[in-house]
Formats: sequence, structure tokens, C-alpha cells
Amino acid sequence: YVIGIDLGTSAVKLLLVDQNGEIASEVSKSYPLIQEKNGYSEQDPDVWVEETLAGLKELVQQAPCSSSEIEAISFSGQMHGLVLLDKEGKPLRNAILWNDTRTTKQCRDIIQQVGEKRLLEITKNPALEGFTLPKVLWVKENEPELYKEASVFVLPKDYLRYRLTDELAMDYSDAAGTLLLDLSGNKWSQEVCDAVGIDVGICPPLVDSSEQTGFLGNKAADQTGLRTQTKVFAGGADNACGAIGSGILTDGKTLCSIGTSGVLLSYEASRDKDFEGKVHYFNHGAPEAYYTMGVTLAAGDSLRWFKDVYAPQESFADFAQGVEEVPVGSRGLLFTPYISGERTPHADANIRGSFIGMNHSHTRKDFVHAIMEGITFSLNESLEIFRENGKTIDTIVSTGGGTKNEYWLQMQADIFNAEVVKLSSEQGPGVGAAMLAAYGCGWFDTLEDCADAFLTVEKTFSPDGEKVEQYQALFKIYQDVYGQTKTLNE
Ligand code: XUL
Repeated sequence: YVIGIDLGTSAVKLLLVDQNGEIASEVSKSYPLIQEKNGYSEQDPDVWVEETLAGLKELVQQAPCSSSEIEAISFSGQMHGLVLLDKEGKPLRNAILWNDTRTTKQCRDIIQQVGEKRLLEITKNPALEGFTLPKVLWVKENEPELYKEASVFVLPKDYLRYRLTDELAMDYSDAAGTLLLDLSGNKWSQEVCDAVGIDVGICPPLVDSSEQTGFLGNKAADQTGLRTQTKVFAGGADNACGAIGSGILTDGKTLCSIGTSGVLLSYEASRDKDFEGKVHYFNHGAPEAYYTMGVTLAAGDSLRWFKDVYAPQESFADFAQGVEEVPVGSRGLLFTPYISGERTPHADANIRGSFIGMNHSHTRKDFVHAIMEGITFSLNESLEIFRENGKTIDTIVSTGGGTKNEYWLQMQADIFNAEVVKLSSEQGPGVGAAMLAAYGCGWFDTLEDCADAFLTVEKTFSPDGEKVEQYQALFKIYQDVYGQTKTLNE
């Protein structure tokens, strides 16, 4: 057995997976977001550790095997979040997360200091508020006393791994989202560090996602019931692990994942393509591979927000009841999911969401339907960028909480105008983390072999020609809303 730990934004999910890829047991522990100001989004790194240790203990207790049969652990983690550590390895402040958008000024400074073109050449990505470097610079500028104490920064799952093993490391797939990695040389960029005035020594050692970084430490073993011989593998960014856990391991494979954020992600065999920074370009967790990706900041988060406002006690399944009775276009209601700004294609931290076209007869299910359509339209904008750049995308694996609702999967097929594939597990990132552990342990020669053994298709949804046309017309209106509402919050 191996354990895949997915350190998400709303919860840590732990999966115990057997040699056939079957999920033998699972535990989820949720934690809150700390949003002190509009645009701020933080979490306490020690809460991640406490919840994960408690989760591991439960997982071991309910496991159908003894802890001696659990060979290894690996991780998938929410990307970009800044965890700044002092020289004792203690967090100096709350982590500043990927969906925190306070760093517009720092992004402008980076562009000015490094040069927009040069930054793209080195990192393959533009300066965006969510990435890690702007957050480092924000702390340096706004909390200078605290920054003086900083010895190293890590990303969320790296801090968790560090606390479980005492070994400090960051893998390339997560490092690629910091804006500090030189993607051509797979090393930290001295040039970017010099230009923005930070010491490259603040960056942690780099490793591959499937590299073993140590064994479980004594304390963590005591607290969880796992053995100290349990191997710990580096793991990767949640989107890289989502790609692995959904079999996005060869050219032409594309993934749609709807969690708190939403992503549309496509495999790239090399780093040499040029999307002019319109989509992110990151290292894959698979060796020598990459992926391109567009991000919708508030995907599942838009639904969560609406549910929390109107029916906080209800489950998502109850909340979405009746959506299948609502026709294409939500009876004239249109939603844009920009409740915390938007990444792709607008890279605009200030834009805010909207409902348009409300009338007296609309009920809650029309709103929920419109939110689902709005999220999917936003992801379709990323898909358009891929298609405009010559990619043929006719099949998309869909994963994440969004797949629990089959009606939404059909809607995705109709909006994306592509076959949408549902796998038998919707836990892409956690399964991907478990696959990295299984591959790292030598159970398989390649990650593709592991995917063949672990992943099965449950159902395929084909686009319905008439609805595709209706959605194409509505998508144009959706795209206009951005320009029309852009100045509302300025
Ligand atoms: C990707 C991104 C999000 C987070 C969510 O660039 O910011 O998808 O990884 O955890």
C-alpha cells in the first residue's frame, strides 16, 4: 500500500491505495481560509500539519492492512502559497495562498526590474499576483523586520513534508509556479533573484517529484501509528499530480479539474512551445515533461460562496438538486465567476463577478445552473487559447468535486464541444500523489504503466450538437461581460 496526501485549499484528503490502484480507505480533514481583507487569503501552516497527522492516524486505524504493509507516502499540494521559515524551520507568519491577490504592485515591480520579455524567457510565465515571488516581495516590503528573520521559503506541501521528515526540499513541478525557476536549466534563477533584490539562498533544494526525500520521522510515526521506515517521496503541485492521477502523460491529453479553483491543462512534451504567457507553462511531475494550463480562480469556490450565503447547512448534492430541470442558458441568467478576480485569460485581480438577466421567476436552481455554466464558460476560454494555438482537443478527462454531478459533466461536453471522460475516482491529485509513491517504490517502470494499472474510465459524455450551438452563442455574450464590467470596481 501507499498513501497519497492532497493538501488542498479547503481540506487535506488522504488516500490509502493498494497495488491495483484501488482506494482502500480515505479520510478528509477541512480547515478554514483566513480572509482578513478583501483580496487576502491565508492559512496557518501548522494547522495543515495537525490536520494531516490526525488524518493519517484515522487512515491507519481504519486501514484494511497493518502499518507494516504501508510502504510509502507522497504529496500533492495547493500551488504557489508562500511559507516563510526562520532559521529554526518555524513559520514566521501565516502562509499567503495562491488565491491571494494583494500583490499587484509587486508584479509591476518584477516586470520593471526583470523585463517582461526576459521573465517569460527564463520562467515561461508572466508575473501574476497568485505566484510566489510577488508574495516574497510583499513581505519584504511590508513586514521588513519579519523578512530579516527569514531563512528559506517553501510551498505548502513542502512544509508538511518537512515537518514529517525534517528534510527540506521542493520539487520542480511546484518550483515552476514560484516565478523563480529557470525552466531551461531547471535551477533557481540567479538573474531573477538579483534583479528583484532577493538572496537566491532563500530558495530550498530542488528535487524530482518521484525522488525519495527521506523516511517518516519518529515523532510523526508515534503520532500516526505508521512505521519510521515508511518512505517519503517529494510529490508535486496539485495540478501536476492531478495530471498524473488522470493519465495526462502523453501528447494530446487534456484535463479539466474543478476544485476550489478550476484548471484546463494540457500535456507538453517540451518546454519549447510559445503561448506568449497567455497560459501557464509548468514542469510536469513526470520526468522531463511539462504542461500548459489556464486557471479559473473561483470555480468550485463560486458554488461554495453561493451555498454559504444561501444554504450553509446543505450538502453540495442537495444544493444542486433540480439543476437538470433548468434549460441551456439558465432561463436568461448569466454568471461570471470573478468573485476573487480572474487569471486566464484576463489576469485581472480587480475584476469581480456578476449575475446578469435576473427576473421574478428565477429560483435558486436557476442560479446554481448559471454558476455551473459560468465556471465552465471561464474554463472554455482557456480551451479556446489551446485550440487557437493549434492544439486539437477532442477528449477531456474531467476530475475534481465537479464530477460528482453528471449533469455538469454533460454540460462540460456541450460547452467544450469535446468528449468528456469521467474516471472511476474523482480524486485526481491524491491518486497522482499515490502514483508518485508507487512509481518511486519501483512498483512500475514508468508512470504510464502505473496509470494503465491504476486508472479506469467510468463513463464518457458526448457533446449534443444542438446544445453545442446554443452554448456557442451564449459564450460570446459571456465573453462580452468582462469588458462591460471591468470598470465597476476600479
Ligand atoms: C494554479 C493555482 C491553483 C492552485 C489550487 O496555478 O493557482 O490551481 O494550485 O490549489
